Amino acid sequence: MADEVATHYSGRGDLAEAIAGKLREAGKDIGALTTADLGSIDEFHIRGRKATLELAEGLNLTAGSRVLDLGSGLGGPARTLAETYRCRVSGIDLTPAFCEAATALSRWVGLSDRVDFQVGDATHLPFADGQYDAAMTIHVAMNIAAKDRMYAEARRVLKPGGRFGVYDVLQGEGGDVLYPTPWAREPSISHLATPDDMRTLLSGAGFKILSATDTSEESERWFAAMAERMKQGSSPPLTFRMFLGDDFPEMTRNQVRNLQERRIRTVSYICEA
Ligand SMILES: C[S@@+](CC[C@H](N)C(=O)[O-])C[C@H]1O[C@@H](n2cnc3c(N)ncnc32)[C@H](O)[C@@H]1O
Repeated sequence: MADEVATHYSGRGDLAEAIAGKLREAGKDIGALTTADLGSIDEFHIRGRKATLELAEGLNLTAGSRVLDLGSGLGGPARTLAETYRCRVSGIDLTPAFCEAATALSRWVGLSDRVDFQVGDATHLPFADGQYDAAMTIHVAMNIAAKDRMYAEARRVLKPGGRFGVYDVLQGEGGDVLYPTPWAREPSISHLATPDDMRTLLSGAGFKILSATDTSEESERWFAAMAERMKQGSSPPLTFRMFLGDDFPEMTRNQVRNLQERRIRTVSYICEA
């Protein structure tokens, strides 16, 4: 299952080189990039950087915080936190190509001293107990059947009182998900929890849930705007299509319907260990 998930996300060839190529074509100097230049691809979740910053508000971060990002992807959320709060963020992700690209992108924007990325499974973290002040996971658990293990691992590596921010795609009450989606081309690697499941899972892992925020309506507008840009041919130089492939426009159209028809919901949780 882990291999199938990594294959779904892996893309083709050297991702950092492909991203650099697209940026150069758009007239950007790789030596003078900012995180904003990468935001359309490295914040790989619905509502992008804005959603990361909203989640981070609940994490009680300071410049001294050590933060873990479970399923860190291309590292956008980790860099956003490191840049905004001056904290240190470690990312772990199943997909080797993403960890390599995350490391390169961090070097380009001068954040290598505050973020690091390693290949690993969020359900078996290679870290000692009680190491982190805060943890987050954004749009990852949709691919994980053993969510109980993932949340138990997050709880284990957090210090007592540490905050855990979760922002994920959940199963809605409107019927089966329409595939392909950005996280799965068919149901075998898709494992969506319902909002009721999430309360049971997070409490069962030993977390106190401090807040739950449903952002589905904004998510629908976000995907509708992306679908419109694709139709008009006005997408930014970097898009998820670079690694998700040529069916990304179909995934986008499906996501608009999945949200409109309440087949999926996007919900954020702030929890305390
Ligand atoms: C949609 S991306 C989100 C990446 C990142 N959190 C972000 O928001 O930009 C999902 C990520 O989860 C990772 N992933 C899926 N299952 C995982 C697991 N069991 N352990 C670690 N990473 C996992 C994938 O490799 C992929 O990078």
